[in-house]
Amino acid sequence: MEDPDEVPSVKGIPFIQKIHNVEAIEKMYDEFEVRDKDVIIMTYPKSGTHWMIDIISLIYSNGDPSWIKSVPAWKRFPWIEMKNGFELIKNKEDPRFLTSHLPVHLFPKSYFSSKAKMIYIARNPRDVIVSYYHFINPFALDSSWSAFENFFESFLRGNVVYGSWFDHIKGWLSMRNSEKFLFLTYEELHQDLKVSVEKICRFLRKKLSEEEISSVLENASFQVMEKHRLENNESIEYLRRNQVVLMRKGICGEWKNYFTVAQMETFNKLYQEKMEGLDQDLFPWN
Ligand code: A3P
Repeated sequence: MEDPDEVPSVKGIPFIQKIHNVEAIEKMYDEFEVRDKDVIIMTYPKSGTHWMIDIISLIYSNGDPSWIKSVPAWKRFPWIEMKNGFELIKNKEDPRFLTSHLPVHLFPKSYFSSKAKMIYIARNPRDVIVSYYHFINPFALDSSWSAFENFFESFLRGNVVYGSWFDHIKGWLSMRNSEKFLFLTYEELHQDLKVSVEKICRFLRKKLSEEEISSVLENASFQVMEKHRLENNESIEYLRRNQVVLMRKGICGEWKNYFTVAQMETFNKLYQEKMEGLDQDLFPWN
């Protein structure tokens, strides 16, 4: 856990010294060159990032799972703000596959004038809280977070790594009418993965046969992804370093087992205030 007195932040967003390239994040805004052929996955943490990494990896491999079986996600789609990602990106050839959780005001400005394609995945923030709570070991800013109610309070205040969920989604939704930006939700992937995969293929201008699409669907299922992560050693390494499980439950609506009635009311009130003015049809969890 980070010493709370020494949590580094960039423009108000807390980061973790040991995993983030904190010194570079501020400079990256001006200096990182996003390329036209880049494909970027953008999420708030715990929203289905790894799911999308595998889906896009499979699409670019025409459904062949060899790449995801042999190479961990963080090497296939490095996080631009992480220490391990920064080095890997330097040597990547086009098209580069990149991941980030950065809020819009910290993301390299060259993206906005490029033709790079970005896929944003949002998830019911109530389920994000629960998933994040189970994943706080590598992201803990406060030892009191071992109690759910304390983490819940910090999350609502935006005092967690990567800042406020509300600011993240509102900031990025400013891009939603751009043709280089695709907004999807974790819940719609769950509801009909085939429809979502076809949407992503159209967005990326990738033509896959029915057979290839079937292979994407099979290999991006929760159980098969879990198996691949063992094969490429990713979950083993993760477990060892951080004592957390990435492929935990992978379901929608788990928050109902965690929130008290009072927490539900507090959350709903804040949600209404913060999300006012946005097109609520975008969010299947409402
Ligand atoms: P839970 O903790 O609720 O189980 P991220 O990749 O952004 O860190 O998100 C992790 C969450 O996505 C975890 O949620 C994980 O189980 C879920 N997830 C990963 N792959 C999935 C899949 N194929 N199907 C459904 N959920 C998946």
